[in-house]
Amino acid sequence: MPRIPEETIQQVLAATDIVDLVGRYVKLRRMGSLFKGLCPFHTERTPSFTVSQSRGTYHCFGCGAGGSAIRFVMEHDGMSFVEAVKRLGDAAGIRIEEEVWDANAEAAAKTRALLLRVHQDIASWYHALLMKHRMADEARQYLKSRGMTAEVAKSWKLGYAPPSGEMLREWAAGKGYAEGVLIDAGILGAGDPDSGRPGTYPRFRHRLMFPIRNDQGEVIAFTARILRADQHPAKYVNSPETMLFTKSKVLFGFDRSKRAIAKAGQAVIVEGQIDMMTVFDSGIENVVASQGTAFTEFHARMLKRHADEVVLCFDADNAGINAAGKAFHTLAPTGLIVKCVALPKGDDPDSLIRTQGPGAFAEIIKSAREFIDFQVEHAATRRNLNEMRERVRFADEMAASIRLLDSPVARETAIQRVAVRLGLPEETYRRQVLRDFNPQAQKASATTTPTMKTSDGRQLLVSQDKTALLLCRLAFSNAEVLHWLRQTRREDILDDLPGASMLALLWRSQCDPADPTSTSVFLASLEPAEESAFAGLLAQPAPPGGIEEAGHALDALETARLHALIQRAQTQLKQPGLTPEEDASLHQRIIAWRKEYLDRRKRDPDTR
Ligand code: UTP
Ligand code: MN
Repeated sequence: MPRIPEETIQQVLAATDIVDLVGRYVKLRRMGSLFKGLCPFHTERTPSFTVSQSRGTYHCFGCGAGGSAIRFVMEHDGMSFVEAVKRLGDAAGIRIEEEVWDANAEAAAKTRALLLRVHQDIASWYHALLMKHRMADEARQYLKSRGMTAEVAKSWKLGYAPPSGEMLREWAAGKGYAEGVLIDAGILGAGDPDSGRPGTYPRFRHRLMFPIRNDQGEVIAFTARILRADQHPAKYVNSPETMLFTKSKVLFGFDRSKRAIAKAGQAVIVEGQIDMMTVFDSGIENVVASQGTAFTEFHARMLKRHADEVVLCFDADNAGINAAGKAFHTLAPTGLIVKCVALPKGDDPDSLIRTQGPGAFAEIIKSAREFIDFQVEHAATRRNLNEMRERVRFADEMAASIRLLDSPVARETAIQRVAVRLGLPEETYRRQVLRDFNPQAQKASATTTPTMKTSDGRQLLVSQDKTALLLCRLAFSNAEVLHWLRQTRREDILDDLPGASMLALLWRSQCDPADPTSTSVFLASLEPAEESAFAGLLAQPAPPGGIEEAGHALDALETARLHALIQRAQTQLKQPGLTPEEDASLHQRIIAWRKEYLDRRKRDPDTR
């Protein structure tokens, strides 16, 4: 993807007078240090749209829109980021070079291109072997036994990796690929896995090869299946992480299905690549495979960009429910509606479609229910809700899930449903759910009436932990505080703390709040919701306090983090299927955290 170098963005933003720019579309009047006018992004009669000339940002108190000059052009004229920068650059007489590489970047780009070529070539070679070579008889037999035709093999470019390294070496020599390149591509591994002798060995031997592709459809890795059940311990072997392949960032089949996903607004998520292929080929094209790995935030954002809703297909057993619970944990906070279906025992989407047809699978997908409802049902049938202990557990479990929901409407609906199950007044249960949930922010969001266009930036602000947000505001309005924060080297706390995403963005950025251009560059690097949330902070008066207050806030966050860690571990302890070692280690960690937590509370009784 073409990229505009950061220096250019800096130059463009420094050369743009935002009052001039916005003033072309909006009648602005000076009010103290700000300019005010009627918001171009929603209908209003009294001006709540503000522009700060010194900071180069805008913010609407009415609808929450806000950001840098680049964002203004993007939103106002419906342009992409690159187009908006070009437009502003033209106006300022700055030429935009989209690709200016330094020497390192150039070398990296070359290696990348080479690795892509290797993948493409070897995928073709594996594929030709599968389609024609005598050696691949067993593989073709296997495909047939699973009902996969030659068309399927062609369409997904399936392949066959030969049993020994000799053919691979010959092929590589013929193509002029050095051993090192094949190692970098993950095709060759170091050390013979059978004899333990040093040297290299082909990672994939006598296996059915499935190319894994990136968003653009380029082959970046492989996953490989054994042909018989008893051959090897691992049913599937994957490429290692390489320069091209980061497992946590890829969803199998997404390159082919993302259009259908966007069109349906929904992504059906299956586990296996064969499931993906069978479902897709059966005409249900809005499908991706998680490839048995845990969902990451990256996956979640990838899906959220195309869909509003995901449907998880999982096994009807406890392991299946647990896996769905984990996926829910990652997907729900992005605002995706997470639905799920339990497949009949012993079936996966592939086997279901083969035995009962695509119609039956489509029906099942149609009957998907929201995960929260599913969880209520599941927990309620397993537990005796007349018993106090079970009631409390059920209420706790559900509260933890409900807090993850991004939409206030979804949260309220879920609260009602659980309250009904427990036979409690809604308000009682609502109080429990909101107890650990930042009730003040929650109230704020419930009382603001949405205007024509409510930007997600508000939601983001509301979802932030109060203390984390205070610290973020202190640091964003005071360069000294941010500088101090960065040198504390305590940013590890950010990863375990819910509601600290804005603080994390600022902390890990290069933003210098004392420099307006640097601030605008920081804003321009953010997602729209984040940008408008930060622009909103800029429009508020700076909170009182400096490094000392920031220190208190950081301590409080450290305590809150311990609390979160302990709670998380306690939830983990309740999961079935822990080994005695895992159980013991969790207990040990809880004891250590609890001790630290109590020590902190003793030192500073005001913290949580
Ligand atoms: P399953 O064991 O459910 O296999 O693993 P499957 O998809 O039904 O595969 P087939 O139908 O037997 O060929 C689900 C997914 O987990 C990953 C793979 O992505 C697989 O599709 N997996 C499984 C591995 O990565 N390694 C393994 O050893 C097993
Ligand atoms: Mn299967």
